[in-house]
Amino acid sequence: MLEAVKLTDRVYWVGAIDWELRSFHGYLTSRGSSYNAYLVLAEKVALIDTVKGGFGAELMERIASVIDPGDIDYIISNHSEMDHSGYLCETVARVKPEKVFASRSGVDALKRHYRPDFEIAAVGDGEKLSLGDCELTFVDTRMVHWPDSMFTYLTDEAVLFSQDAFGMHLASFERYADELPADMVEYETAKYYANIVIPFAPVVGKLLARLDGLGLKIDLLATDHGPIWRRPEDIANVIGKYAEWSAAKPTNKAVVVYDTMWGSTAKMARAVAGGLAAGGVHTRVMPIEGCHRSDVATELLGAAALLVGTPTLNRTLFPTVADVLTYLRGLGMQNLVGGAFGSYGWSGQGTRHAREMLESMGVEIVAEAPTTQFVPDEDALASCKAYGLQVAERVKQVIGG
Ligand code: FEO
Repeated sequence: MLEAVKLTDRVYWVGAIDWELRSFHGYLTSRGSSYNAYLVLAEKVALIDTVKGGFGAELMERIASVIDPGDIDYIISNHSEMDHSGYLCETVARVKPEKVFASRSGVDALKRHYRPDFEIAAVGDGEKLSLGDCELTFVDTRMVHWPDSMFTYLTDEAVLFSQDAFGMHLASFERYADELPADMVEYETAKYYANIVIPFAPVVGKLLARLDGLGLKIDLLATDHGPIWRRPEDIANVIGKYAEWSAAKPTNKAVVVYDTMWGSTAKMARAVAGGLAAGGVHTRVMPIEGCHRSDVATELLGAAALLVGTPTLNRTLFPTVADVLTYLRGLGMQNLVGGAFGSYGWSGQGTRHAREMLESMGVEIVAEAPTTQFVPDEDALASCKAYGLQVAERVKQVIGG
């Protein structure tokens, strides 16, 4: 028997735990995830978000451990993405709520996803919904991280239901972040931001300023994925981290990512990284064979430089390198300097194509990165190290050190 978890006098967690999830559209979710839904018990009972399709039985069983699901009056969809709305239509069919609410964009998105046979009422920024003996307020959080996204705030218990924002992909029985190892929680929060939220960094900055202006007291930060934040210092910390990350301020850090055919580009990568480190830059070396694209994105949080090593294969860059660069370009990493180096056999277009991808990402190219025909000799490796030192100099200028 699955049970709800009581969080406050009124709020229960009634979500689902996905122990098996390992890919969230290209993001390696090594620790699974959870799809959090919340029941608010008041004169009018509200369910905030549902769960991914396939997890509905878990949602319903947890709800039934607290109330008769038929007692739910309102369903609120904070976010239309299918990991939170996949079971919405079935929930409505089973619960028969009085009303379903979403943001204006949410109404449109839900209609385009599901063609529902029930009405969805649109709510706007700052609009309030009375639950009889308490009240919910909606906060428009458009583009954090979809056009439909919104927060819901339970005033009398100071609970902010923040949908994807401030969450993490982490499956656990523990419902609170402070019950889990701090380094794990910190890493997964950063990974989530770097792989889901980062394209919307400028909007995040504005949203945080607006939340600050609203002066919302937050005793519980209840996200749609992973554990919930309850300690004041943890809530302040995760909001502070979002402020830091959304500012995209480069720090003294570089990431060298590469793949290799016969070990030559790998030798060059080690030499470039050696130059960066000798130049005083904290350098992460990430061979693609052992590092997932989403881990590269995570390491790039706060980085000032991105160096890419690619062999030339069939007149272009190596496919695994193209994969990582395509992914990073979509994420819109900001404020990076860098370059593309590598070994080639006879035509050598790989590094040029990689450099063009870096340029299309807005990366400032530092000088001419080294290329080597076949296997790098001592002179070639010395050039790679010198290039690393040159990039380190540029990093120091960029970060003002
Ligand atoms: Fe967790 Fe944007 O869905």
